[in-house]
Amino acid sequence: MLPTPYIKCDYETVYEPCEDSFLLLDGLEQEQSFLQTRFRNQLAIVCELGPGSGIVTTFLMQNDIPHGNGSIYLALDISPWALEATQDAQRRNDCQNRYLSVIQSDLTKCLRQNSTDLLVFNPPYVPAEQVPDRPSSNENDKSQWLDLALLGGEDGMVITRQVLDQLDTILSQQGVAYILFCARNKPEQVAESMRQQGWKVDLIINRKAGWEVLSIYRFIRQ
Ligand SMILES: C[S@@+](CC[C@H](N)C(=O)[O-])C[C@H]1O[C@@H](n2cnc3c(N)ncnc32)[C@H](O)[C@@H]1O
Repeated sequence: MLPTPYIKCDYETVYEPCEDSFLLLDGLEQEQSFLQTRFRNQLAIVCELGPGSGIVTTFLMQNDIPHGNGSIYLALDISPWALEATQDAQRRNDCQNRYLSVIQSDLTKCLRQNSTDLLVFNPPYVPAEQVPDRPSSNENDKSQWLDLALLGGEDGMVITRQVLDQLDTILSQQGVAYILFCARNKPEQVAESMRQQGWKVDLIINRKAGWEVLSIYRFIRQ
């Protein structure tokens, strides 16, 4: 079993790792040999969207996923607190010798088209009336950043939908994306609609978490 990174940060501003984060770690561990084979002999560009505490990006770096030939890790979050936490997690887990760039970005806007080999996203997936506005920088109530981490608008899918709609321009030819869903996101319907658009979509792991069922799907080109 691969080790879990040690994380310590201010959970009043940054999403605290919980069942969804750990499911993502388990799913990525399960996919390790698939990813090793897929990206053998090539330098991989790995991007986590919404790293929060940095637990997932640090797990990827710590365990050399997809492989040990050197990868470039990008951690993109809208929240400055998440970026700070991710850099801190890298330090705490002795991963300073991995190449990590943390970037404040609204989703993948800062990425070069078709350059990402491995995309990982645990999105704000909780259904809500709307996706909260981004807090202004002089905002005192830091907890607004937590709402942004959780609330995904209609069906909890507003943010995820934006990423799925852009997947074709985000991923490289060989690219793979792992995206987490809760049952209320209707993931099987989403998967079917992506299949109809030419994607190969597979459920790689799911788990009951309290009254919620969480699942992770893998997206690759057909
Ligand atoms: C559910 S948390 C996941 C945190 C971490 N990856 C984990 O698994 O524990 C979602 C993350 O997405 C970030 N986020 C929300 N909306 C975003 C956007 N439009 N662009 C970039 N990141 C966003 C939040 O700040 C938060 O860090």
